[in-house]
Amino acid sequence: MITSVKEILIKAKEGGYAVGAFNTVNLEITQAIVEAAKKMHSPVIIQVSENTLEYAGGRGIFNLIKNYAEFYAKEIPIGIHLDHGHSFEIIQRVANNGFTSVMYDGSRKKFDDNLEITKKVVDFCHDKGIDVQGELGNVPYLSENKMGEVDWDKYMTDPEQAKYFVETTGIDALAVAIGNAHDFFKERETPDWERLDKIRSLVTVPIVMHGASDWEGKAVEAVKHGVSCFNIDTNTRLAFVNTLSSLFRSDDDPGFDVRKILGQAREAVKESVIKKIELFGSADKA
Ligand code: G3H
Ligand code: 13P
Ligand code: ZN
Repeated sequence: MITSVKEILIKAKEGGYAVGAFNTVNLEITQAIVEAAKKMHSPVIIQVSENTLEYAGGRGIFNLIKNYAEFYAKEIPIGIHLDHGHSFEIIQRVANNGFTSVMYDGSRKKFDDNLEITKKVVDFCHDKGIDVQGELGNVPYLSENKMGEVDWDKYMTDPEQAKYFVETTGIDALAVAIGNAHDFFKERETPDWERLDKIRSLVTVPIVMHGASDWEGKAVEAVKHGVSCFNIDTNTRLAFVNTLSSLFRSDDDPGFDVRKILGQAREAVKESVIKKIELFGSADKA
């Protein structure tokens, strides 16, 4: 059942667990996420990036997720979300495609510009019943840094600024930087739990943790410190690609039945999503 992302996140916050927001790019990954959530009786968020909008078409990928979720998974709450929208124009575009939840990511802009554009996005979106996630501080990418050479202080979310940002913009969820990083990239040795506690005490909206693919042990602790949503992309991609890679490297000929080949990759993604759902504590919360 398609459900508002805001509702899914508020329930998670109140229930003391976190939900996974998993990126998809195609039918097989979408099926894997939905089937994993169904098996675990868990709410889930399925999200797409700007690059995926280009790859699959905004209307195409939105309707693929929506149709699959509505037809095959009436029993579990599924939110559909735009991940890392970088401009007001892209938000307008996906609003036309039917999205009811977006992230506007102004985290690499100056604070005042991030504040101003996020507010403009919120005014536009709330008018249409669309939820908005904003980001303050920023979550690094592997491509921007050499392993181990990160000046974490440059990235961190400032708690007082976060309070002002949330109250002024009216966003529905806040993505934070406390030592988390995108990709399988060396994260800060210990996440800044104190900072997260402070943010949580000052900010009322649900907190989102990007770059969570490699947060195995830390995820449980992060939930205790108030994280309500974890973003996962790298882990899913690797499950998919590694399966294909070992199929084609194996001595057994994989044949050319695309369904058998992609079906195995889909199964591997499903298993990887199930493990994350167990870790985040959202099983049986549907
Ligand atoms: O956090 C970003 C996501 O992993 C999206 O990556 O732009 O390559 O789809 P992408
Ligand atoms: P990972 O690269 O850790 O999977 O993070 C994904 C993400 O934050 C998507 O927004
Ligand atoms: Zn992200």
